[in-house]
Amino acid sequence: MKNTISFVFLLCVGLVSPFNYLVFCPLYAHSHHKFLAKIADTLSDAGHNVTFLAPIIIRKYENVKYLDSTKDIVYIQPSKKLESLGVTSDYSKFWNQDATAIQFVPAIRAFTKMFEQLYEDLKEDLTVLDELKNRKFDALVFEFLCPTALRELTFKNSNLKLLVSAIAEYLDIKAVLPSLSMTHHPLMSRLIGEPSSPSVLPSMISSFGDDMTFPERLQNTIGDIFFTLFVHFPPMTSFKNPEKLIDVEDMTARSPFMFMNGNPYLDYPRPLLTKSVLIGGISVNVTQLKQEKLSENYNQILSKNKKNVLISFGSMIFSKDMPQEYKDTIVRVIESRQDVTFIWKYEEEDVSFAKNLPNLYFSKWVPQTALLADSRISAFVTHAGLGSVTELSYMGKPAVLIPIFADQLRNSKTLARHNGSITLSKYDLSDFDKLRNAIDTILNEESFKINAERLSQQLQDQPVSPQDLLVRHAEFAAKYGELPNLDPCSRQMSFISFYMIDIILFFGVIIGSVVLGVVLITRWAFSFCVRPKQKVQ
Ligand SMILES: *[C@@H]1O[C@H](CO)[C@@H](O)[C@H](O)[C@H]1NC(C)=O
Ligand SMILES: *[C@@H]1O[C@H](CO)[C@@H](O)[C@H](O)[C@H]1NC(C)=O
Ligand SMILES: *[C@@H]1O[C@H](CO)[C@@H](O)[C@H](O)[C@H]1NC(C)=O
Repeated sequence: MKNTISFVFLLCVGLVSPFNYLVFCPLYAHSHHKFLAKIADTLSDAGHNVTFLAPIIIRKYENVKYLDSTKDIVYIQPSKKLESLGVTSDYSKFWNQDATAIQFVPAIRAFTKMFEQLYEDLKEDLTVLDELKNRKFDALVFEFLCPTALRELTFKNSNLKLLVSAIAEYLDIKAVLPSLSMTHHPLMSRLIGEPSSPSVLPSMISSFGDDMTFPERLQNTIGDIFFTLFVHFPPMTSFKNPEKLIDVEDMTARSPFMFMNGNPYLDYPRPLLTKSVLIGGISVNVTQLKQEKLSENYNQILSKNKKNVLISFGSMIFSKDMPQEYKDTIVRVIESRQDVTFIWKYEEEDVSFAKNLPNLYFSKWVPQTALLADSRISAFVTHAGLGSVTELSYMGKPAVLIPIFADQLRNSKTLARHNGSITLSKYDLSDFDKLRNAIDTILNEESFKINAERLSQQLQDQPVSPQDLLVRHAEFAAKYGELPNLDPCSRQMSFISFYMIDIILFFGVIIGSVVLGVVLITRWAFSFCVRPKQKVQ
């Protein structure tokens, strides 16, 4: 208790003078942009100076405004070559295809090229970085592996880490704070010496939970070996000294903290180092969302029936692209429940397939958080993207989860542990009875609602809120820089000593020798006793 008080006191003292933070966020994907913007805003709200450095890669993201209280935004225009390398992918095939790692390989290559070019661009023209030099940043925050839609592929985006290391070195920033808009990453754990055995920590290419069967663990282990052997960091040299190679592994190991988008009250429990700070839920402010006003149109729609269901498959994969068979099943289910109103995020004008049902409303865009915060929404049918799962958990809504690809299967398994949701396979969307049963159960069985609400309360009552966790750790890092006292010895242990293979062998030999000894002595003694009898016969 005393320690906690002095810790808080120390931080309050730190607050007297604001720190300077640099948040580095190349613009090429929504999820990580949103997460880093939230981090920047939270630090700004706590009274610090935050500079948001945003090299543009894909033009359309230049106009997406996620930042609110952070005003100092430095854009870097892309070279023609970089702009031409920007990757936008079409995921609609995953509606009726399994998502395997191999399908993502071309995208990995594309991302690799993109970051290499960004590095070349920056090296060519260091003026922006030179201007930033005078600001004397205390800490740098960046996305460890920029996930996009292709969350699993992010292994290869290690180039980005190299690039950031080069920037940190050039600007002389003593505290580098990698952040991750996903829940966890085995490579990130490994680099800081956190337990990350493939028996307990699923890789990003898998959709497994924490409770893996033998084939799943086998697959997970093979994937782990594959990436350890074949993923290498391409060489990048220092901006200051072109002779000097950047050592990204060392740089990562020396980072004082890492911020991850997982939440310990929602996610699987696992062994963590003090360096891993879980700030999942930082984007959700329940008080604020409950105050948001819905438009009159939505007010009317929600007042028609006692029960209302929101259907949305997110913004990465579109409802309009789903197979006609799935659309027809959903419409038939909705038709069979005339006493329930359904709002469906659907991205096309032409909805003639829906037979003008009186209890079905389409919208190209839905105010998802405001709807989830409204007590009249009874259930949410979703693709289980991390953002949606976190939001519905905070708002306490029972859900039918229909994961399509990437980490969505994992997210649905995470939520299932809290007993407030039902998971269906995407292929079940062609099965009327299964879908109708799931919707009926989630609407009628009180237990789902009670469990969802309990989770929501727990998330809101967390001992330390994600916002406080971020601000306090970021301040501590800015104040003290690198924290070698948090660097575990296990980081440098060999595979054999970490997994106790030498100890097991040692005991094995001793036990083996004793057993062998006992067997030999018994045999000898036995033969000694038995021999006289034979003589008698
Ligand atoms: C933060 O920004 C303000 C306004 O730009 C500036 O006056 C102040 O010196 C900055 N603080 C630090 C610690 O650099
Ligand atoms: C959440 O929103 C409320 C109302 O806008 C605000 O007073 C509060 O400070 C916010 N909480 C956090 C942690 O940002
Ligand atoms: C969910 O239900 C299972 C089985 O009834 C139970 O063991 C588990 O503790 C429940 N989980 C929560 C979070 O209530």
